[in-house]
Amino acid sequence: MSHAALSPGAVAVITGGASGIGLAAATRLAQAGLRVCIADTNEPALATAAAALASIAPKGPASVMAMAIDVSRRETLVRLEAAVRDRFGGTDVLINNAGIQPGARMFDPLDNWERILGVNLWGVIHGTQVFVPNMIARGRPGLVINTGSKQGITTPPGSPAYNVSKSGVKTFTEALQHELRNTSDHQLSAHLLIPGFVFTGLTAGDRTEKPAAAWTPEQTVDFAFARIEAGDFYILCPDNDVPRQLDERRMAWAIGDVIENRPALSRWHPDYAETFEAFVKGD
Ligand code: NAI
Repeated sequence: MSHAALSPGAVAVITGGASGIGLAAATRLAQAGLRVCIADTNEPALATAAAALASIAPKGPASVMAMAIDVSRRETLVRLEAAVRDRFGGTDVLINNAGIQPGARMFDPLDNWERILGVNLWGVIHGTQVFVPNMIARGRPGLVINTGSKQGITTPPGSPAYNVSKSGVKTFTEALQHELRNTSDHQLSAHLLIPGFVFTGLTAGDRTEKPAAAWTPEQTVDFAFARIEAGDFYILCPDNDVPRQLDERRMAWAIGDVIENRPALSRWHPDYAETFEAFVKGD
């Protein structure tokens, strides 16, 4: 990895780092010689992941840290930031990645909605607001990578709370990058990671084997780091089912609802089924 923030000895903090995409990112960074801190609610998974990271990190356990936190609670991120500063001197790479998708319908109880927004959206806001001022003050090359979702862009029916949270992550991260590029005296950039279908605990359900359509977490993070090296803000990941071109058509159709004054979510409206299919094919 050639990005200045991804150099050996730099410090990476990854929320939701005990499994899935977060652990794959921590693994790649540890292999590259960065010092890594994984933070997660799942304490047994954290311990297992920390041991695995220590076994592959060139400098072993000295360059690995793990901490139990709940990203929806700001005070746990404040503790995390201070602990990383204490142990490693500060943070260069922040990956706000913790997320949940338990399913929540439109009229579900409030606590369901609050939990999803608390982790997926407030977790990213807390992480950014707690860490980034210190990363700016540190004065070193740095990255903030926030994990969004295609569901935050095309907002398919069925998961409204998740979609709202991930739309918020997109909007927040765009505003963050705008703010950063209009702020002088720092070397940070923000990036929105938009995974495709990735086989992880979040999507596995009862499946024990990766479906053909899905990417692995490792494929996803390798793609993400390559796109960061290339300078992308929007890291739009394909998968084995959906190539970039199809994503582009779906996203263009979604914003077309507003421009063309079509019904909300017209992609799933029976009157628009044929027009949408033709649009996707580029007719
Ligand atoms: P995962 O379930 O393997 O990893 C998520 C991690 O976040 C888990 O280790 C979990 O314990 C942790 N976590 C949950 N709540 C937390 C909290 N309050 N505080 C700290 N940690 C917490 O799932 P995956 O797929 O690796 O998810 C990572 C991110 O990728 C999520 O933000 C998810 O929404 C996003 N994503 C995943 C996709 C997929 O197909 N797997 C597609 C699009 C986005």
